[in-house]
Amino acid sequence: METGQRIGILTGGGDCPGLNAAIRAATKIALQSGYEVIGFRDGWKGFLEDNHETLDSIKTSGIIDRGGTILGTSRFSPLRTENGAQLVLDRYKAMELSGLIVLGGNGTLSIAGKLHRQGLPVIGIPKTIDNDVAGTDYSIGFQTAVQIATDALDRLRSTAESHHRVMLLEVMGRRAGWIAVYAGLASGADAILIPEIPLTGQKMDELCQMVKGRKKKGKHFSIIVVAEGTRLVENEGLPGLVGETIGKIIEEKTGLETRFSSLDYIQRGGTPVSYDRNLATCLGIKAVELVREGKYGEMAVLRRNSITSTPLEKTVDKEKTVTLNVYRMAAMFFS
Ligand code: F6P
Repeated sequence: METGQRIGILTGGGDCPGLNAAIRAATKIALQSGYEVIGFRDGWKGFLEDNHETLDSIKTSGIIDRGGTILGTSRFSPLRTENGAQLVLDRYKAMELSGLIVLGGNGTLSIAGKLHRQGLPVIGIPKTIDNDVAGTDYSIGFQTAVQIATDALDRLRSTAESHHRVMLLEVMGRRAGWIAVYAGLASGADAILIPEIPLTGQKMDELCQMVKGRKKKGKHFSIIVVAEGTRLVENEGLPGLVGETIGKIIEEKTGLETRFSSLDYIQRGGTPVSYDRNLATCLGIKAVELVREGKYGEMAVLRRNSITSTPLEKTVDKEKTVTLNVYRMAAMFFS
């Protein structure tokens, strides 16, 4: 590499814990390798609007434990702008970059993959609490969200036990129920509802019977985790959050006192757990290595406990949903 080359970095999509750890690692390693590092503000939006700042060692120090992203983020897509792909390529050239590192979930990485098809020298890093990016075992932010949801479920147990109630917790996961399954498994939930398994009328009846059956067995409370994307086949379109609706139906059908809570953005904010900081650090280092080797169009990933890379192409417009064997393991404890 010639000295004086520049790497660009941006974060797109929803924020999550661990983004700053990845920005820190990528920046510090790039600087050590002789690159200049340019951070674009608010994702693809800042890239197109030429809203950027030079990142140095001072700006990226003391941020490993900070939630969110120091660069800001947005769900802006250049591909929804007229001539957007060409505008991105023009900006890339004008900025004299030798690689662009993009931290994103499915939306942002799909854009990156499509722009790579058009010649953009881009490298991806997967981040999303939903953990639904294809090609990586875990995405940055997921383990923190699971820990927050597990803590919340442990706390809900107090009220469930004391008041003999059915407690429902809604967690994020629009199309994949990874947070619900991992947190439910870790906290010993009595039922876990996910987008991958539509809640038909029959399944709802079975759920109510299970909850009632627990009472007969002397278990006077139940804890149910609901992913936000769970589909209520026979009650579609009812107003309110899906978990709230399911709670009302359970109360109506079983006569048991039921309460609902939603974790909402609390599960996406604040300090990353050490797993996410370390994953983010390793993926940040790998991304710079990929730029150095000129392996554009790749994404730094974790596969079978190894840091490696996979073509971004494999993630374009794809989603990694919960595998049945993982769900079955959690379901072994429903009774
Ligand atoms: O993509 C991650 C995610 O956390 C989803 O689970 C959730 O539905 C969504 O982001 C919320 O996004 P926004 O912050 O744009 O409302």
